[in-house]
Amino acid sequence: MIGDAPVLVLGARGQVARELARLGLELGMSLETAGRERLDLSSDSADETVLGALIDQTGARGVINAAAYTAVDLAESEPERAFHLNRDIPGRLARVCADRAIPLVHYSTDYVFDGAKAAAYVETDPRSPLNVYGRSKAGGEDQVLAAGGDAIILRTAWVFGAFGRNFMKTMLSLAETRTELTVVDDQRGRPTWSRDAAQAGLAALDLLRRGGPSGLYHAAGADDASWADLAEHLMGLRAVPGRPSPAVRRITTAEFPTAAQRSPYSGLDSSRLAAQTDWRPSGWRSAASAAYADLQSLVSKGIV
Ligand SMILES: NC(=O)c1ccc[n+]([C@@H]2O[C@H](COP(=O)([O-])OP(=O)(O)OC[C@H]3O[C@@H](n4cnc5c(N)ncnc54)[C@H](OP(=O)(O)O)[C@@H]3O)[C@@H](O)[C@H]2O)c1
Repeated sequence: MIGDAPVLVLGARGQVARELARLGLELGMSLETAGRERLDLSSDSADETVLGALIDQTGARGVINAAAYTAVDLAESEPERAFHLNRDIPGRLARVCADRAIPLVHYSTDYVFDGAKAAAYVETDPRSPLNVYGRSKAGGEDQVLAAGGDAIILRTAWVFGAFGRNFMKTMLSLAETRTELTVVDDQRGRPTWSRDAAQAGLAALDLLRRGGPSGLYHAAGADDASWADLAEHLMGLRAVPGRPSPAVRRITTAEFPTAAQRSPYSGLDSSRLAAQTDWRPSGWRSAASAAYADLQSLVSKGIV
């Protein structure tokens, strides 16, 4: 998969961007990440000329956009910032890539769905986001599709891993000082290891390069869990003789109010991507175990 053609990743320190960088090294790819020091995407000056110049400078022949406004609750009070990063920037980027005939992979989210469906969501299901973040990401999907270039929108979900900030690291950090963790049990989704989300990005780029169909694809874990299920599994991994992990007390969303409304169910069915590429979704338990081991290894080496 993936030839030698240079790839530009927007995002550098984010969960998925760092996994992409690591995979790029492992695979010997020419892959460059660009974080906000290189180009602050929140600035009005991040227009099509500036985005095009960045792509041209790097000589990229493929772009993966892993940059986004991901603060789901904060987005409720700063919608302009969320829409700028998640709708307007992807639209500009997609037009720049389309003009240059450069394939683009752009990440989106399960939060474009409202949870009214009983089974896992497929790409053709209607969207109905419940919060500003979800609406801003849905706007980004529309903009990328409207640009008309070779582009894949990869919806992922519940991302966790060794890099950046995420639920796994938050739970492990809280476990250091608490005897009990209260965790929401009535929201269900498909937890996704950041490494799997990154691998899906490379597989999608490869698919575009092979002339595969543009459009929407889902790339999440293989099976459903609640946040409490995931926390309990992590606490099991963490426990060692002499250092028990906190108990997980399952609570309802109503007992843990947040600024942004969340969907009770947002499982994504990733069959379409798996049918078109060699990427396969991982079960969340094995993925969480692998991510936990990866985190321990990186911590012991002082990398995270
Ligand atoms: N996290 C999840 O659970 C989840 C779920 C569904 C979908 N997604 C989607 O998956 C993609 C990757 O998410 P993630 O979890 O890796 O996000 P993340 O860890 O929050 O990272 C966000 C990235 O966006 C970049 N960024 C934010 N503001 C920027 C700005 N003003 N200028 C330049 N770069 C900026 C950051 O740049 P720096 O590297 O410079 O900090 C960082 O690399 C996003 O599209 C997200 O919407 C995530």
